[in-house]
Amino acid sequence: MKNEIRHGGLKFISFVIIDLICIVLSNVIVTHIYLNISHAKYSLEGHLPVIYLMVAVDLIVTGFFNTLARVLRRRKRKEILQSLKHVAISFVILAMVLFTTKSGAEYSRVIVSLAYVCDFFLILGCRYLWKKVLMKIYWTKNNNSALLMTTDSFAEEALEALKKSGGDVKSIFLLDSKGQKAIGGVPVAENIEDAIAVLGWDLAKNVYIYGLDHQMIPDALADACREMKVRIDLVDFKYKIIDVKTVKNDDSRYGSLSFIEGKRDIPFPIRRVYWITETEADLHRGFHAHKLNCQLLFCPHGSIDIILDDGEKKDTVRLDEPGKGLLLMPGLWREMIWNESGSVLCVLASEYYDPDEYIRNYDGFIAYNKGSKE
Ligand code: TYD
Repeated sequence: MKNEIRHGGLKFISFVIIDLICIVLSNVIVTHIYLNISHAKYSLEGHLPVIYLMVAVDLIVTGFFNTLARVLRRRKRKEILQSLKHVAISFVILAMVLFTTKSGAEYSRVIVSLAYVCDFFLILGCRYLWKKVLMKIYWTKNNNSALLMTTDSFAEEALEALKKSGGDVKSIFLLDSKGQKAIGGVPVAENIEDAIAVLGWDLAKNVYIYGLDHQMIPDALADACREMKVRIDLVDFKYKIIDVKTVKNDDSRYGSLSFIEGKRDIPFPIRRVYWITETEADLHRGFHAHKLNCQLLFCPHGSIDIILDDGEKKDTVRLDEPGKGLLLMPGLWREMIWNESGSVLCVLASEYYDPDEYIRNYDGFIAYNKGSKE
């Protein structure tokens, strides 16, 4: 519940109040109807302790079982299921208290059961209407509010890129968070549940990922976005030159040591490593694009030009030192030209080798890129 209050604030409290009002109302309605029908001997006043108990149980259930999470963005089916769950848990808890104690026998079990049925429908109706009101108040105000997901090393440039494209970043979720509380004044979500709560409570309307391989999107976030019908969009680069961390020893005889850590220095897990050696100068290779595979290319020895083509323009990047890495996202046609014989090309890849994941025909590549943009 602490999480809910932190992220949902007044919206959360209002839903709790609605639940409490519904449970009291449903009890009063059912008691009145039942008393008129059965002419039972006990009065409405006599039934008040049950109402207090129901209210207490409702609060406990909301607190412990977090049944209000995502309530604002929940789709109808999910709302029905969650409300049913909430009411059922409350009913079972109260039943255990009332129906098994002596004092419980004094109260009509029929009234309590009917009250919960009535509560379910009241909760559904009231929450639905209240949601509509909140949506009206909040929805139009900030359609650019966003949750940004990236890695620690890309956080600042991702924030810049999103701001430039008009996004108003409300929260950042870092895949390899080092416990930062905020970046550029934007709060960092502590964990994936917090990030999802930001969406569930409608504090951000969009999700943007930056420089991430598709495998890095946590299942929980993908599921939540599907459930809440939130699109995951890319604010992305096609390629980027990165500095590979390199340690040089004072004694030049020791040479230098470069290293890369998957998911930290590069935004994907390393599934495959390959390298091309024993090459002649002016060798041309490549002539393909990838549908999914993200890669880091580097040349620990020699010099290699990488010609990159996104279907609209071509760029050339020269890899000629071990500390220079070229990060390639999918959807880029590439050609590699060896400038010196013996130059070594090393590749770290996010995917296992899969020939079907390659696009080896240039016209096919143009068509594929066009299709994925639409
Ligand atoms: P290829 O992708 O055609 O190299 P390039 O595009 O640079 O010319 O790969 C050459 C061959 O190596 C091809 O038969 C597939 C095989 N191969 C693997 O089996 N596993 C791999 O990880 C890679 C990269 C290639």
